Amino acid sequence: MNKFAVFGNPIAHSLSPTIHQMFAEQYSLPISYEKIGPDENDFENALSTFFDDADAVGCNVTAPFKGRALQQADTLNKAAELAGAVNTLYKKDRRLQGFNTDGIGLVADINNQGVELADKKVLLIGAGGAARGAVHPLLEAGVKALAITNRTMERATQICEEVSVSHCIALDKPGLMSFDADIIINSTSASLHNQLPDLQYISFVKCELAYDMAYSKDPTLFMAYAEKEGATMSADGLGMLVEQAAAAFTIWTEKLPQTRPVIDKLRQR
Ligand code: ATR
Repeated sequence: MNKFAVFGNPIAHSLSPTIHQMFAEQYSLPISYEKIGPDENDFENALSTFFDDADAVGCNVTAPFKGRALQQADTLNKAAELAGAVNTLYKKDRRLQGFNTDGIGLVADINNQGVELADKKVLLIGAGGAARGAVHPLLEAGVKALAITNRTMERATQICEEVSVSHCIALDKPGLMSFDADIIINSTSASLHNQLPDLQYISFVKCELAYDMAYSKDPTLFMAYAEKEGATMSADGLGMLVEQAAAAFTIWTEKLPQTRPVIDKLRQR
């Protein structure tokens, strides 16, 4: 039986095994998918033990190991390179291929909301690992402008310098006031602590979708704020979680699982 796993610490609450088992059921594929939560200094050993098994095909990697997973990969896709983080590893011909599918998941879930990215003005709030994973796939989706803002502006500027395309710009407070974004994405970890990033210079009036990468049972603070300030629609990141998993599943199996029934099932829980 093909073996898969997710590595992270803490890992107990990960939905990845449930999601991947649901995908596998769609194709009647028997798979094993386990949660592995190594100690801080044992990640590399645990990873190599996992892949020593001839049945091991691939794994997902989550916090705090995404940067270290990148170090273990023999090859990287463009999104992983820019993100400096790998969330998916695939063993092929005894080499480990590293991918970052988080941004692909974000783009897919924005499309799930019926929103097109091509030719849109997008504002990305935050400049940490989650933002970095999103930048390349958003640019690939053909956005007209990608503005990045962050509490610590140097981190936003740094990303734009690395990307080095004229339509990817870092915006501080004065710049934000004149940037009418069509889509506003919160990639900060503020929602995880039930906080809001500083939004006072951001206009939501022309915003057709306010997207929070975090998810919870109830709408996040960011979603509520955005709708109150005029956003047409808001969404949380549960769909992104399922879509990034689907992209990983496709890398491993070449199959394109249906995500809608999985998102619906998780939402009902
Ligand atoms: P992740 O991998 O989840 O992106 P990270 O790399 O630690 O985590 O990045 C967290 C992001 O959330 C950063 O952009 C951080 O801002 P700073 O770069 O200024 O630290 C942002 N962030 C976290 N808490 C925040 C808060 N309360 N208000 C605004 N931004 C916040």
